[in-house]
Amino acid sequence: MARKPCDYLLCGIGELYTMDSGSPGFVAAPDLESLPVLANGAVAVLNGKVAFVGSETELKEQYEPAEVVNLKGALLVPGLVDAHTHPAFAEGRAEEFDWRARGLSYLEIAKRGGGILSSVRAVREASEEELTAQVVAHFQRMQAHGTVACEAKSGYGLTLEDEVKSLRAIKAGAEATGMEVLPTFLGAHMVPQEFKEKPDRYVEILCEEVLPAIFEQGLARAADVFIEDHAFTLERAERYLSRASDLGFALRVHSDQFANVGGTELAVSLGAESVDHLEVLSDAGLDALVTSGTTCAGLLPTVPHFLRQDADAPAHKLLKAGVPWFVATDFNPGSCYTASLPEAAHFARIRLNLTALEALAGMTLHAATSLGAGDRLGRIAPGYEARFTILDLPDLFHFGYGLGENPARIWSP
Ligand code: NIG
Ligand code: FE
Repeated sequence: MARKPCDYLLCGIGELYTMDSGSPGFVAAPDLESLPVLANGAVAVLNGKVAFVGSETELKEQYEPAEVVNLKGALLVPGLVDAHTHPAFAEGRAEEFDWRARGLSYLEIAKRGGGILSSVRAVREASEEELTAQVVAHFQRMQAHGTVACEAKSGYGLTLEDEVKSLRAIKAGAEATGMEVLPTFLGAHMVPQEFKEKPDRYVEILCEEVLPAIFEQGLARAADVFIEDHAFTLERAERYLSRASDLGFALRVHSDQFANVGGTELAVSLGAESVDHLEVLSDAGLDALVTSGTTCAGLLPTVPHFLRQDADAPAHKLLKAGVPWFVATDFNPGSCYTASLPEAAHFARIRLNLTALEALAGMTLHAATSLGAGDRLGRIAPGYEARFTILDLPDLFHFGYGLGENPARIWSP
């Protein structure tokens, strides 16, 4: 029988984690063990897509590859997807580390006009070209740690002009680096200084002018809000999210990071794709997530470490109750300055007590699914994009085991 042509055949794979359940949607924690892991697996790639996944012997019989790629025993997993990042910043805020070491908290720094608002000043001063150069550098750092796709938020501009600039920089950064980007508008990250005394007016402008303009220009697929005492109250968040949803944005929400004001319940009631942070999630919030079944719990386990915060998201309760989850970096200049998903896997395993497989599902299958891209990213299966992450590890138990090591690299045609 004549062999079929393909562009690449990946072989010599130590363990091949397909993360493919065979049906769309999330996979509950107890069922992860039943996802296929191939010991002598191989992948055929044709025209940038996966053509076939099977045993190496079978694939070599069936395919005539233009090129053979030998992984020499490394692990192959779906290309990592970072489902929560803030890459559109112009400058880091490393000095805040020292301030926190002297006892100032993240919230105290924010109240003094530091924190997010200092990043806003830097973005407003940067030209689109300067900001794009920063975004490119941020995407390259993510790629260097195995991330092939990411959700990328604006949110350090906080005027129509500066938010458009940020989202355009994200788009240009994606084109320049080949990062696959799912952009999110985060105009409700913080009430900007000039609206400090009239926050309702800022929300009104977001709803009447900014959200419609961003949607019209097709610059973002989702809208996000930081629901917190010092950011947006529940009532203001509801106005913003309802308007965004009416316009056609998907919703992603920052909630229950420091104070519980009912943000999770609100997000679920509006059908949000994800509610992220959840360090102070209440029982009512947990119940809302359980009832929803589709709103993902966005776990960002590196953030409490960066903020010297004791509380962690109740990951075990969430997983046990059947709530879908993803694990992301939250890469940003203030609360989490790492672009590394393998490092997030470490913190997910240490602080959240996730298994390596639960962490991996949270940055492949579940991350892609929560972003509406579960039909092309997050699995190694026929028809899926051929963007993979190679892990130079002896087995998956080592994923997130060595802190400060980078076992990940990207493979794409
Ligand atoms: O997800 N919580 C709000 N936003 C970011 C932090 C942004 C910053 O500090 O610059 C977060 O942690
Ligand atoms: Fe965030």
